Amino acid sequence: MLETRAADARQFTTSSFDPQRASAEEWAQALAYWRQRHDEDFPGEPQPDDAHTQQDVRQHTPLHVVHRAFARDAQGRIVGSLNMGVRREGSPDYATFAPFIDVWGGVLRSHQRQGVASTLLHRLLALMETRAPTTATFKAHLPEGRAFLAAIGATEKHRSIENRMAFAGLDWAALARWRADALAPTHGLRLEIHAGRVPFDRLATLMAPLSALLEDAPTSALERAPLRFELEGFHAWYAEIDRRGGEHFLVLLRDANDEVAAVCDASWNQLYPDRMFQRLTGVARHWRGKGLAKGVKAIMLQLVRERHPEVAIAVTQNAEVNAPMLAINRQLGFAPHRHDGAYQIGTESLRAFLSTRPLAVPEARA
Ligand SMILES: CC(C)(COP(=O)(O)OP(=O)(O)OC[C@H]1O[C@@H](n2cnc3c(N)ncnc32)[C@H](O)[C@@H]1OP(=O)(O)O)[C@@H](O)C(=O)NCCC(=O)NCCS
Repeated sequence: MLETRAADARQFTTSSFDPQRASAEEWAQALAYWRQRHDEDFPGEPQPDDAHTQQDVRQHTPLHVVHRAFARDAQGRIVGSLNMGVRREGSPDYATFAPFIDVWGGVLRSHQRQGVASTLLHRLLALMETRAPTTATFKAHLPEGRAFLAAIGATEKHRSIENRMAFAGLDWAALARWRADALAPTHGLRLEIHAGRVPFDRLATLMAPLSALLEDAPTSALERAPLRFELEGFHAWYAEIDRRGGEHFLVLLRDANDEVAAVCDASWNQLYPDRMFQRLTGVARHWRGKGLAKGVKAIMLQLVRERHPEVAIAVTQNAEVNAPMLAINRQLGFAPHRHDGAYQIGTESLRAFLSTRPLAVPEARA
């Protein structure tokens, strides 16, 4: 079960963390470690309290499974972590999603450049070797994360930007015009709005059309499974929102055949009441170039302001290659807050890197 890296003056061991079985002492260590990592990697950003984090980590996710591991120093303190998210076996279309592993984690500042992350990566290799051809995808925004991923042989395949906008700077008269233009009778579009939750029977009918719009958003050279909205995912998300408080907003424009011409969805989280999280904005190809994206975004901003006057900032993720979306967001006043790179590596390349950094007791690997 324990692994130790050979060449280090200091020895680090890794072990898996099972949220359903961990003792109170292990939980306390894990929560303190996550809190410190959050402060180091996202200084100044609010974070949920420990009770919420514990609930989130424990919550059953119908579509995914996360394998977690920690690295500890000689005194048994947690100094690094590795998380590997895979599609849950038996979930719909398992084979299509199975080749992809989402990986995230890190090492405390005080313990970087001592081989902790490399030691943890042996667990990723072990998981990749039990599966058919697999691609691991990491996201990094800090220079040390990027340097590490380049060093292990991962390739940057996609870049995204977290953009943020202050509500105080919005031009509400311009937004009213954007709304009016999209709803002009010549377009013949009908507006559908959900605030709070979307009823599941309605969501069920929207999974296919909204997935088509999501899949159509540019994602550069990233190797990936289809991007897809899934009803099981909404069940899990809504259960989480029910627990911690929050809302889901959906704005649709439907054409004469009742097809989705444009969509905008967003969320509000009671833990961060001053923020709105903008999710998908999409316009069906044959409806593009008519101001519909601006229209649904304007309607969404008006809706969120009405429901939550305390919201001061909108947060969104955009692909760097998504020029149209970036242009609209710039007009609204969004500005880059953080740049993320998505890096990918295959089993062979990871094995080659780790062969230069063997474990002290490879036969003990479990
Ligand atoms: C990225 C991170 C996990 C690396 O952890 P680490 O334990 O310091 O990494 P290792 O000591 O195993 O480094 C392995 C190799 O990566 C490269 N590397 C790691 N950090 C580097 C840095 N800051 N600058 C340049 N190269 C670096 C080096 O080649 C290093 O080998 P070397 O020290 O023998 O030269 C850590 O810096 C971190 O937690 N960063 C913040 C979170 C993050 O970005 N996570 C990655 C995305 S999921």
